[in-house]
Amino acid sequence: MRVLIGGGSGFVGRELTRLLKSKGHEVTIISRQPGPGRITWADVESGGLPPCEGAVNLAGENIMNPLRWWNDSYKKDLFSSRVDTTRALAQAIAASSSPPRSWVLITGVACYKPSLQSQYTEDSEWTPFDLLSQLVKEWEEAGRLPHSLAQSTRQVVIRPGAVLGRDGGAMKQMLTPFWLGLGGPLGSGRQPFPWIHVSDLAGIILHALETSSSPPSTQLEVFNGVAPALNTNYEFTKELGRILRRPTLFPVPGFLMDTLLGSERAVILMQGQKVVPKRTLESGFQFRYPDLTSALREIVGG
Ligand SMILES: NC(=O)c1ccc[n+]([C@@H]2O[C@H](COP(=O)([O-])OP(=O)(O)OC[C@H]3O[C@@H](n4cnc5c(N)ncnc54)[C@H](OP(=O)(O)O)[C@@H]3O)[C@@H](O)[C@H]2O)c1
Repeated sequence: MRVLIGGGSGFVGRELTRLLKSKGHEVTIISRQPGPGRITWADVESGGLPPCEGAVNLAGENIMNPLRWWNDSYKKDLFSSRVDTTRALAQAIAASSSPPRSWVLITGVACYKPSLQSQYTEDSEWTPFDLLSQLVKEWEEAGRLPHSLAQSTRQVVIRPGAVLGRDGGAMKQMLTPFWLGLGGPLGSGRQPFPWIHVSDLAGIILHALETSSSPPSTQLEVFNGVAPALNTNYEFTKELGRILRRPTLFPVPGFLMDTLLGSERAVILMQGQKVVPKRTLESGFQFRYPDLTSALREIVGG
């Protein structure tokens, strides 16, 4: 299978590329920069979709970029880097004379309202309630294909929690404070912490590319990209400290996170959602890292 991956040069894209190539698939990345094995977004807009059996979009300005202050220009980049690239790919698929069998968009769990009690599955109804849920709405809408493609192209949205892996994402930023013994629960630590190992997220994407829906549907098929273990921030903090053999004594106060990250973004860490991968499991996907201990051991050793 030939797979086109928008934003495939990043943290999740590198893992997905490794997995696809190990199964004998061919990968072309869509990037802002030209290079070997890549085409640019401008190439897609001017030349249309290259021949492929699967298309994935992972492009997006990093939402936890510690070097960017939370202001209007950053928020605009968060939206346009996701919504515009997704729309460009969806339009190229719709205009193609041989559209791919599968179109897989990766968004996030920010569409589900943070809560200590509620549990969300892919069937949960939601409407936007803040900036990040509005982003998910516009992002997923930009990915919708016309009804005429329902028979030929399967449309899948995967909503991951925090993606944990060795060479990027949240762990890269967290490990130094934890090694220094400065890691601690965020606020009360009672908030849910939906997470997934990067290898399982790549696995769910491959699963979506390889399997087919029956019957073909005009609906978006949604899969929650979260491990089945429902953990809190406190449990995550204590398990990471235990595996690293470092103390995690001092809670990080909410006002500090609000000041450092901006309150609209700090929500991701200071509040959280209990997200259940109901359809992901029902579809037959088997997690390699279903619990924190196995995931964190793989990532940091121990
Ligand atoms: N990592 C997580 O914890 C997490 C959690 C939930 C959802 N997600 C979503 O999953 C997707 C993949 O995550 P990731 O961690 O692999 O992302 P990433 O490494 O931060 O970025 C992926 C790629 O997006 C492209 N990109 C960055 N800024 C861009 C911009 N301003 N305009 C256009 N393209 C831009 C880059 O490709 P080029 O430089 O080659 O153009 C980059 O390699 C993202 O959409 C992210 O929102 C991630």
